[in-house]
Amino acid sequence: MSGVSTKAGFLCDPVRIRNYCTAIFVAHGVPDYDAHVVADSLVTANLRGLDSHGITRVGIYADRLKKKLVNSVAHPKVVKDKNAMLLIDGDNGMGAVVTLQALRMGISRAKEYGICSIGITHSNHYGAGAYYIKEAVKANLACHLYGHAPPTMAPWGGIKPYLGTNPYSFGIPAGKYPPIILDMASSVVARGRILLAAKENKSIPEGWAIDTEGRPTMDAQAALAGSVLPFAGPKGYGIALMNDILAGVLTSSNFGSQIPDLYRNLVDVQNIGAFIQLTDIESFIPVSDFNARMEKLVEDLKSITPAQGVDQIYLPGEIENNKEAVRSENGFSIAEVEVEMLSKLGKPMGLDVEEIFLRGGK
Ligand SMILES: NC(=O)c1ccc[n+]([C@@H]2O[C@H](COP(=O)([O-])OP(=O)(O)OC[C@H]3O[C@@H](n4cnc5c(N)ncnc54)[C@H](O)[C@@H]3O)[C@@H](O)[C@H]2O)c1
Repeated sequence: MSGVSTKAGFLCDPVRIRNYCTAIFVAHGVPDYDAHVVADSLVTANLRGLDSHGITRVGIYADRLKKKLVNSVAHPKVVKDKNAMLLIDGDNGMGAVVTLQALRMGISRAKEYGICSIGITHSNHYGAGAYYIKEAVKANLACHLYGHAPPTMAPWGGIKPYLGTNPYSFGIPAGKYPPIILDMASSVVARGRILLAAKENKSIPEGWAIDTEGRPTMDAQAALAGSVLPFAGPKGYGIALMNDILAGVLTSSNFGSQIPDLYRNLVDVQNIGAFIQLTDIESFIPVSDFNARMEKLVEDLKSITPAQGVDQIYLPGEIENNKEAVRSENGFSIAEVEVEMLSKLGKPMGLDVEEIFLRGGK
């Protein structure tokens, strides 16, 4: 491989790797624009430092397309419409495609009616929530996105996984400052970090997971066999449950242990849902007033003295926004195993993985 190798892996050009991933999805029958959306959502996750939800997912997405567990040419349609409420059937399309289309339909409704609740059913893994939140925020909307995932987390006090690390995302514009984007799993840490520790034969900190008997464990393998823990104990459990109810039960999608595992079940479709709540700012208050008030809020927060050992107060999403700006300019690194995965996928369709590397030291 001729790419620039750093300690973190191989340095990639965001545009080139996005084009490469788009071409892989197109070769799996996905229409050009949809393929671009999925690749863009994954590369954006890498840019924001969320590597566990980035291009590492190209392999499993391609596998599920190949096995017809995900519909490459999907036509999401509105199945219930009450003006400020939409239920959208994703036609088992790729999660990013369905979620973005549903969100865009909801945005025009929220602009018209002040609010819009959007339920999504028959969809798939949508990756990192911030990608969709950013689109809503650009339209001067507050956006809540409730997602759910296959079971890896026991209900608080239990030992058997039933809920996923169900993600909750919230975003809102902040005037002249970058938007506030809270985008989080409901577990203490993303399960991907435990997977990584297991791969590297490392232990994990106490408080991340329990073993199959419900005992706290620092053994990554025992943690994977057991259950990840929710953040803040019963509170994170409550948030995960709320997400499963809104994204799964309410939308008639699968919920709880009904959701087949993304990686381990290559037989069943996932029927994942999502729930989005949009609120139009201008319907409440002139956007200019809102922006001025948000700027004051941000400045107040930023002016609070940081605790010892803390460099500054950050707003939710700020660390990721900063990373995105730097990585968009300088590229980002991916591990050798990811380069190999992309190479293996691209080769049969005449793609050269060397194309993804950053050239000429930007
Ligand atoms: N689609 C799915 O099935 C699924 C499931 C789980 C998670 N996810 C995604 O995984 C990603 C990672 O989730 P996570 O919980 O590991 O994220 P995280 O713990 O890295 O960050 C969570 C939130 O805390 C904020 N934050 C972190 N440090 C901060 C600080 N010092 N000051 C202020 N705010 C700070 C971040 O900006 C972010 O909004 C998210 O994009 C989420 O949508 C997706």
